[in-house]
Amino acid sequence: MLSAELAPALIAWYRQAARDLPWRHDVTPYRVWVSEIMLQQTRVEAVKPFFQRFMDRLPTVADLAHAPEEVWLKLWEGLGYYSRVRNLHRAACVVCERYGGELPCDEKQLLALPGIGPYTAGAILSFAMGKPVPAVDGNVMRVLARLTDDGRDITAPALRREYENMLRPLIPPDAASDFGQGLIELGATLCGPDHPPACEACPLARLCRGYVAGHADALPNRARPAPRRIEERTVLILRDGRRVALRRRPDSGLLAGLWELPGVCGRMSRDEAVAWARGEGYEPVRVRQTDPVKHVFTHMEWHMSGYLLELEEAQERADGELRFLLREEVARQCTLPSAFRGFLKYL
Ligand code: ADE
Repeated sequence: MLSAELAPALIAWYRQAARDLPWRHDVTPYRVWVSEIMLQQTRVEAVKPFFQRFMDRLPTVADLAHAPEEVWLKLWEGLGYYSRVRNLHRAACVVCERYGGELPCDEKQLLALPGIGPYTAGAILSFAMGKPVPAVDGNVMRVLARLTDDGRDITAPALRREYENMLRPLIPPDAASDFGQGLIELGATLCGPDHPPACEACPLARLCRGYVAGHADALPNRARPAPRRIEERTVLILRDGRRVALRRRPDSGLLAGLWELPGVCGRMSRDEAVAWARGEGYEPVRVRQTDPVKHVFTHMEWHMSGYLLELEEAQERADGELRFLLREEVARQCTLPSAFRGFLKYL
């Protein structure tokens, strides 16, 4: 059980300690929505410039709904996890069609939109609309595990719902936004994930069972995640003096629909790389091995080796999947996932 004293102490602290973050200005449901989707897998400092650019270019739900794919994909380039922006766009279209461009203030209707789960719905409803709805993300889970001295595995799926129910009666109807944001802020700062908790400075320390028991720093408990699968890949950079070959990834799965440098599973020898180029209809005049590049996704790692296959002149084949783009165009127009960043110096 949580103490009724929690809300006033938390809110008073948040009102004087809140960081000045771009999405805390001109708070609207759209700004909260976009910021929370960006913040799902990305750190606050990294999100700030992306958020600002996104809002400058697409300031309303309707602007997002009507923007072409290359615009919103480009605005997301570097943030990763591109299904997030695909869902944002799909949901923006639904919001325009069904709700006249305003996000609905009903939890069920929000949850029915692509990419909006209980946390994001709670954040939109409470941070932007002032509704007394809990918004429980990983930050809040950590705070609650410490406050209640809960030693259970924090990754257990049923726990979030339990924590939501625990919070619901404590949310003050006239300060739901500061309450919800205060919990997140505490979980992102004093009670953060990357350092021992700063309990001496915490406004809730005297209400915190983990702290009183002397082991807040040992919480939360977390089952060991399954080890990431490692995939060996060979990236093939086919270029002439001006242009480089890219192709589109399939419409579903990892990095769906994005441009990529061509590549294959497994580690190719130099001869195999040349044979691959010939198979695509190209005869390299020079071949050089690149430095290896490693990219870590949530559940998988790509360990990539690569070959730079230089052509006298790149003549695109109408029947092939490779497209030759001017090297400046790649930077300007395509969304090349950050997995390939280590190869950019060869383009
Ligand atoms: N992390 C996730 N959401 C956040 C928010 N709204 N403010 C600060 N950190 C966050």
